[in-house]
Amino acid sequence: MFEYAPAPESREIVDIKPSYGLFIGGEWVDSLGEDHHKTINPASEEVLAEVAWATEADVDRAVQAARKAFATWSALPGSERAKYIFRIARIIQERSRELAVLETLDNGKPIRESRDVDLPLVAAHFFYYAGWADKLGYAGFGADPRPLGVAGQVIPWNFPLLMLAWKIAPALACGNTVVLKPAETTPLTALAFAEICRQADLPPGVVNIVTGAGETGAALVNHPGVDKVAFTGSTEVGRMIARSVAGTRKKLTLELGGKAANIVFEDAALDQAVEGIVNGIFFNQGHVCCAGSRLLVQESVADEVLDALKRRLSTLRLGDPMDKNTDIGAINSAAQLAKIRELSEAGVSEGAERWSPACPIPDRGFWFPPTVFTGVAQSHRIAREEIFGPVLSVLTFRTPAEAVEKANNTPYGLSAGVWTEKGSRILWMADRLRAGVVWANTFNRFDPTSPFGGFKESGYGREGGRHGLEAYLAV
Ligand code: NAI
Ligand code: MG
Repeated sequence: MFEYAPAPESREIVDIKPSYGLFIGGEWVDSLGEDHHKTINPASEEVLAEVAWATEADVDRAVQAARKAFATWSALPGSERAKYIFRIARIIQERSRELAVLETLDNGKPIRESRDVDLPLVAAHFFYYAGWADKLGYAGFGADPRPLGVAGQVIPWNFPLLMLAWKIAPALACGNTVVLKPAETTPLTALAFAEICRQADLPPGVVNIVTGAGETGAALVNHPGVDKVAFTGSTEVGRMIARSVAGTRKKLTLELGGKAANIVFEDAALDQAVEGIVNGIFFNQGHVCCAGSRLLVQESVADEVLDALKRRLSTLRLGDPMDKNTDIGAINSAAQLAKIRELSEAGVSEGAERWSPACPIPDRGFWFPPTVFTGVAQSHRIAREEIFGPVLSVLTFRTPAEAVEKANNTPYGLSAGVWTEKGSRILWMADRLRAGVVWANTFNRFDPTSPFGGFKESGYGREGGRHGLEAYLAV
C-alpha cells in the first residue's frame, strides 16, 4: 500500500464574512427578526459564519420584491434574459474554485466532488437553460408560453449550489422571478450566488435569497403571493407542502426521497459493477436522493461481488474533505449522523450482518464509516427506509422477474441501476422498473439535458431537460 502525503486545498480563496443578512430586491438587508444561526463546518465543528433566520415578514418583503421585478423581467425578450443567465454561468465557471471550497467547508463533501462534479454541473445547468430562454416557443408548450410569476423554492443541504441551479436556472429562463430558501446547515454558497447575481447586473428582485429553517420555508410556500412552489427534501415535509398547497392555484413540483435498487446480473462486468456500486452509495457520503442504497445481486455471483466490494471499500479514504485524496467526507450534521446511526443499529437488531472496513475516524466533526449490511430481508427497516448515509443494504435474487419485483417493492421510485452485458435485458428491465431514472452499466450520472424526477413517494414533476421547463410555464 502506498502512503498518501496530505494534499490539502487552500481555503485562502474564500472570503467568508462573519455574518450575513438577507438578499432582497438586489440588496443585503437585515432581518426584521432577531434570530440568527451559526453555520458550521461539519468536518471540524468550526463556526464559519452567522446567518439570519428570516421571519414571515422578511419572506413577505422578498415575495414583494420578486413580484415587482416580475413585470419587467417577464417582459424582456428571451434573448435578453439569456444574456444574464449566460453571464451568471460564466461567472460561476470563473469563480468555481472558490465556490467549490466554500461548498466543501459548509457541507463536508470532499473537495474532489465539489470541484469535479457539483461545480461543473452547476455551470452546465445555467448554460443549458440560458440556451432555452429565447427558444421557449419551440419547446412543445405552444407558440408563446408564459411564465407563472413568483417561484418559491426550498432546497436541501446535500447538493446546495447544484439544487439552487436546478431550481433557479429554468425559472429565470422561462421569465419567472424567485425567492429561494437554502437549507439551514448549508446557506453559504446560496449567499455567494446572491453576490454573483449582483456581479452579473441581474435586475434587482429577480433572485431573492432568504435564509432560515423550516418555519422560513413554510412561510415561503404558504405565502399567497407565490405562484409556483418547488421543493427538494424529505418525503415528510413534501407531504406537508402538498397538503398546504392543495386547493390553491399554486403549481407544485416535489423531488423527495428514494431507496434505489442497483441490480447486478451474473453476466455483468463485475469489476466495473463494483465501481458503480461504490459510486452509487458512497458518493457524497450517501447523501443522495437517488443513491443506489439497495444492492440487488444475482445469487450466483453474490460472494464474488461482495468480496471485491469489501476489498475496494478498504481502499477508500475517509477524512478531511479539503484533502484532494479524500473519498468520503463528513456527515452534514449531527442530526443526520444520529439518523444514520439509529437506522444502522436497527439493521443489527433486526438480524442483518454489518461490515465496515478498518478506518480511522477523526476526533472532531461528524463521521460515519462506509458500511455494508448483508443478510438483509425486504421487511428490514434498512431495506425500506431512506438512510441518506454511506450505508448499503445487500439483497440477492435468482431471476430477472424476482429482481424487478424486489426493486419495485418500495414506496419510492426515483432511480434504479442495471448491470448486465445484454442490451435486451437492459431494455426489458427499464420497461418494468418503476423509477424516474434507470441507469445502465453506470450510476449517479447527471446531465442538464436529461429530465430527473420520481414516481410514487419520490415526488412529481421533472427537473432538467426540456421537461424541466414545463414546471415554470403556464401550460
Ligand atoms: P427537510 O425536508 O426537513 O429539509 C429540506 C428543506 O426543507 C430545508 O431547506 C428545510 O429548511 C426545509 N423545510 C423543513 N421543514 C419545512 C416546512 N415545513 N416547510 C417548508 N420547508 C421546510 O429534510 P432534513 O430534515 O434536512 O432531512 C431529513 C431526511 O430527509 C434525510 O435524512 C433524508 O432522508 C431526506 N432528504 C432527502 C433529500 C433529497 O434530496 N430528496 C434532501 C434532504 C433530505
Ligand atoms: Mg454548514
